This record gives sequence, C-alpha cells and structure tokens, in this order.
Amino acid sequence: MRIDVAFAPELAKPSPTAVVIDVLRATSTIANALDSGYQRIHCCVSVDDARTLHERLGEGLLAGERSCVRIPGFTFGNSPKEFSTPVGDLVILTTTNGTKALVVASKISNRVLAASLLNASSVVNAVREIGEDVSIICAGVEGTFAMDDAYCAGLLVKLLEGECTDSAVAAVRLYESFQTPEEGILASKSARNLLTAGLEDDISWCARVDEFSTVPQVVGTTQCSVELGLPVENLT
Ligand code: MLT
Repeated sequence: MRIDVAFAPELAKPSPTAVVIDVLRATSTIANALDSGYQRIHCCVSVDDARTLHERLGEGLLAGERSCVRIPGFTFGNSPKEFSTPVGDLVILTTTNGTKALVVASKISNRVLAASLLNASSVVNAVREIGEDVSIICAGVEGTFAMDDAYCAGLLVKLLEGECTDSAVAAVRLYESFQTPEEGILASKSARNLLTAGLEDDISWCARVDEFSTVPQVVGTTQCSVELGLPVENLT
C-alpha cells in the first residue's frame, strides 16, 4: 500500500482511498457525533449551503463555526462535546476547513474516511482492510499547514506501515518529535485559535487517542456537501 500525506487539501493527489483529518475540531466532532448515535452528518462548504440544504431536507440540526464561534441561528457550534447526547438523527455541519476538506477529498477519491486522534487505530484498521493506496489529507488552516492535523497524519502513517512518500515520512518524523499528543496539538495554530476563543477544554478533549472505534465514511455526495455515516459493520 502506498501512503501519501497532503498537508493541505490543495496538495492532495487523486487516490482510491482518502482519509481526511481535522483534529481541531471537525473530524473529532464527527467521530463523537456518530459514536454517540447521530445517524448522518451532512458536511457543507459554506454557511449558505448548510442553510439551503437544511431548508431542502426539512430536517436536521444546523451546526458549525466561523472563527471557532457558533454561527448565528445555528443550534450547535463545533465543540465535539456538544454532540455527546443525540437530540436527533441528522446534523448539517459547516466548518472553516474540515468540512471543505471532506468535500475536496470526495471529488478525487472513491472512498473517503474521517480520522482524528479519537478514532486513529480504528481508521488504520479500516484502511488496512480496504487495502488500497491511501492519501491522508490534512484539513489545515485556510490552505496552510496545521500541526494538529500533521501530528495525527504521522500517527496514522506510523501505524499503517506502507510504502511512504516523502511527505508521509515527514509526518512520521514530526509525530515522533513530540512527547505527548497534547503537546503535538498545542503546538498548532488551530489550538491557539481555540485558546483565543476561550475553548481550551476542546484541545485536551480532542487530544485523547483511540477513544472511539467508529470510522466515519462518506456515503453520499452533492456538488457542495458530503454525507457521512458509519459503514454497516460499525452499526451495533
Ligand atoms: C475547521 O474546520 O477549521 C475547524 O474545525 C475549526 C474549529 O475548531 O472549529
């Protein structure tokens, strides 16, 4: 298996399987929401797309952030903890970088999974079972490198043990340079943004490794959104 890491969605190459990472916080939120019992998460690029989809579907809870803060009129922000007790089946989510990365990935890969530290080993096991070349796509911050996502990418590459591109090797070296997950994540711009917004609790919450066995997967797409759910074997 060939493993590539794209440190921003703009750098991603087409690949049979893609794994999207936004540790702080979109893919951590998605993992927790599906693990808690939400059935589907529609991920939209823009706030307008989310509102339009909500109107069209006539159901779902609007969730998301801009500059880490809940979007006016939306039920939830993007704090993973907000999704620990389901109050419906469907979430319509839009975030600054993570949901966009998922939409980009679905245009260049047939199979797209969402990873965070919270479900790292389960995603690795799923990718091994699929057995195809994989592109690990970091959501980054507005098209640039983000340490939290790169750290998690390094962990996934290390666990996967495949034939690595140079960027995949670099991700492992970066991962190994930190003593703890929290240290790796705290070194990121995303963490600094959360600290500024007074959301520091989310950093340690998202820094936990292998809390969940859920493997969110894209199960449907439109031009500007993707729908994530759990593969049948995850539904117990
Ligand atoms: C993003 O998509 O950029 C992040 O999830 C931002 C956040 O921490 O809410």
